[in-house]
Amino acid sequence: MANIRSILALGPVMPVIVIDDAADAVPLAQALLEGGISTIEVTLRTQAALSAMEAIAKSCPDMVIGAGTVLTPTDAANARDAGAVFAVSPGATPSLIDGCANAGIDLLPGATSASEAMVLLEQGFDTLKFFPAVPAGGAPFLKSLASPLPQITFCPTGGITQQTAPDFLSLDNVSCVGGSWIASRGDIANKDFATITARASAAAEL
Ligand code: 3PG
Repeated sequence: MANIRSILALGPVMPVIVIDDAADAVPLAQALLEGGISTIEVTLRTQAALSAMEAIAKSCPDMVIGAGTVLTPTDAANARDAGAVFAVSPGATPSLIDGCANAGIDLLPGATSASEAMVLLEQGFDTLKFFPAVPAGGAPFLKSLASPLPQITFCPTGGITQQTAPDFLSLDNVSCVGGSWIASRGDIANKDFATITARASAAAEL
């Protein structure tokens, strides 16, 4: 099974992807790789998401594929079958945690409070998504958790930009941030892969 903490350490930014046409998946992954990004979260928010992951897994072996918006055990099994090596969820439920374990796919579960983080830590999760990062308190909130919960590393996502990412990345308990700004749904649909590579390059240097 993949190790979430080591995957998140591959780079400072993980693009969160909403893709409408699986035909755009490989050019998208190539554009990100060219910009220096080798981890991707493809959200299960569109019909095309699973096919997109399959295409990337087949053609871009250097890309580490995560499935995002994994909400159920069925989502977890589908993501694994499509080639995802980790699953990301906005929160966490007992059935999702069991489902990911049964599917043999590592989970990056979401938390937005000390209590949620502590419940997940008790279950062995020391690497968590902090979502929605900005509305839930942003970098000051995460900074406040570092002292009482130093064992936990967070990947904040939700409302983060190229400009605000450094506020999060400077924290001891953040190893990478996630966001859609690198490859927006519109840029992908417009096949604006040059822009995506440029944004990936800038993000990879954060
Ligand atoms: C996520 O799923 O993590 C968020 O939708 C990404 O948030 P953003 O679109 O504000 O970057």
